[in-house]
Amino acid sequence: MSEIKKLDPMLSSRIAAGEVIERPQSVARELIDNAIDAHADEIALSLTGGGIDELVVTDNGKGIMKEDLPAAVLQYATSKISEPDDLYHIHTMGFRGEALHSVAAVSRLTISSSYKGESPWTLCVDNNEVFPLTPGGPDRGTIVKVENLFSQIKARRSFLKRPSSEANLCRNMLLSKAMAFPEIHFTFIQDGAIRADLPKRSTLFDRVMDILTLDESFSRKDFIYLEKECADFSIRLVTSLPGIHRSDRSRIKVYVNSRAVDEYSLVQSVVYGYGEILPGGAFPYSVLFIDDNPELVDFNIHPAKKEVRLRNKAEIHHEVHTLIHSSLPRQIPTIVKKDEQAWLEPVARSATSWTDADFTRDSIRHDTFTDHRKRTDESVSEKPSDPQWLEKAKELFSKKREAKEEPVYEKTAVRQEDFWKPDEKTDFNYLGQAFRLFLVCTKGDDLYLVDQHAAHERILFNELREQKDVQKLLIPHEFEVDGDVDAFLCENAYIYTQYGISLAQKGDRLWELTSIPHSAKENEDKLVSFIKNAVGSEDEIEAGLYSLVACRGAIKAGDFVDDITAKALLEKVFSLEDPVCPHGRTFVIRISQKELRQMVGRTV
Ligand SMILES: Nc1ncnc2c1ncn2[C@@H]1O[C@H](COP(=O)(O)OP(=O)(O)OP(=O)(O)O)[C@@H](O)[C@H]1O
Ligand SMILES: [Mg+2]
Repeated sequence: MSEIKKLDPMLSSRIAAGEVIERPQSVARELIDNAIDAHADEIALSLTGGGIDELVVTDNGKGIMKEDLPAAVLQYATSKISEPDDLYHIHTMGFRGEALHSVAAVSRLTISSSYKGESPWTLCVDNNEVFPLTPGGPDRGTIVKVENLFSQIKARRSFLKRPSSEANLCRNMLLSKAMAFPEIHFTFIQDGAIRADLPKRSTLFDRVMDILTLDESFSRKDFIYLEKECADFSIRLVTSLPGIHRSDRSRIKVYVNSRAVDEYSLVQSVVYGYGEILPGGAFPYSVLFIDDNPELVDFNIHPAKKEVRLRNKAEIHHEVHTLIHSSLPRQIPTIVKKDEQAWLEPVARSATSWTDADFTRDSIRHDTFTDHRKRTDESVSEKPSDPQWLEKAKELFSKKREAKEEPVYEKTAVRQEDFWKPDEKTDFNYLGQAFRLFLVCTKGDDLYLVDQHAAHERILFNELREQKDVQKLLIPHEFEVDGDVDAFLCENAYIYTQYGISLAQKGDRLWELTSIPHSAKENEDKLVSFIKNAVGSEDEIEAGLYSLVACRGAIKAGDFVDDITAKALLEKVFSLEDPVCPHGRTFVIRISQKELRQMVGRTV
């Protein structure tokens, strides 16, 4: 008797459904997609019990014909494509013809619809069992109700989270869809209460800002809108100004042809665009929309269409990077709170609002010491001789408090050479570590505070550039790349060589990593995954290597640093050309003894 048997259709459709429908969030994704494809301009998602008990999507789209209702739940049945070639001209969110079939295989699905205002009809399918059509339903559009998800697949159901967490995932899905469709009014209802309401908007920027400000206290001034038309694609981007950032890439969202996708290299193009504007380990909030020629796009990779192949990825990457790079203020701004002594805040960054117009490219430099010193010399030295100084001090103090509530910022320009000269001599006196962030020492007549992370980052970066400590790998690391990366590496592998990273081509799309810099040893896997995805200019590759090797490898803020390490680090810091991290941020604070004395009111 043969061992191989064709699976029962019930079982095979459940297996197939498992790829598309993982949790209520996937149901929400598929039903919202269908409503968008039906040209609805009102879409509501309503949940009970986190969408596990009941999930309903209502739309005012064109509806489904009575005779099409049974076909809508058949496997691989769709109105969106018909020819093999159509796969390369997709203009709709759906095209695989399997979503409703999958939902019907794992729940009780009820679809009620009126096709273009005709009499409505309702179809019900309970875990693959199809019931006869019944009259009735909405006057316009479609209502799709999904009940008791996975009630017959206990194992799947046991993997679901608590209803409140599932509801949150569904909400995020609705918000993610709404980002790309400002012309549609979206509503999210949880257990009968409206939890998010996004009215129609006339611009993408307005819609993105509506969503970004739902959970975070951003203001529109914190973001800018950029756009660019290229031959085969267009770019639209809503992105944070440099004062706003976070410590991971999770808020860089990428949409290709209105669909949110996991596309690492485009996330990277945004990060590269910012380059040195943001400090190490800081990433922007960005929503990037690429509208690409459908012929160059393949979404038919993942059943949930989360992945995409772009034939012109390298070009898009380059254009996104250049658009951001040329549009954002380049220099690291130094911000000084007016009326406040700001010696200890050479770079105050987060949660401030800047606009493009606030910056002139060359006027802003990395540090402010000379200017501050000058102002302080004038103002502080006068105070002790002023009989009214106590009154003045009180006034100044109350002004400072007001300024805290409504801070006013000014940017100053200072020449680097006024502040720093490299010095090979090791005549400093190490005092200790402060706040697990600053290495504190005196040198000559000055007190120095050195940001341990940024300083180490700079030193590692220099070593990477100088190719110190290149290690040959005992077992070369072999890896496969996509066509575009293969083409890129064939032309540009030399870029990596400059950093001690040797690559050899082993065959079609097959490469081998044969040597790496010592500082990348801990991150060999990450380095390979970077190389596998990276396409871009030399600057972009350098920026990527920097964040991978120098930033990750450096001592972190919060790490304890022993005296020997601290002294060794400071020695290297004092011999640097300039104490600026690879992102352009200064990491040394110097206060002269004179200034310190003046601060406590001494004249000598
Ligand atoms: N809300 C809706 N309004 C109008 N027609 C709909 C709606 N939902 C589904 N349909 C119709 O039912 C068909 C099947 O839907 P289903 O989601 O299963 O497949 P699809 O959208 O074509 O492809 P995919 O599986 O990629 O989503 C659609 O092609 C469409 O014609
Ligand atoms: Mg669909």
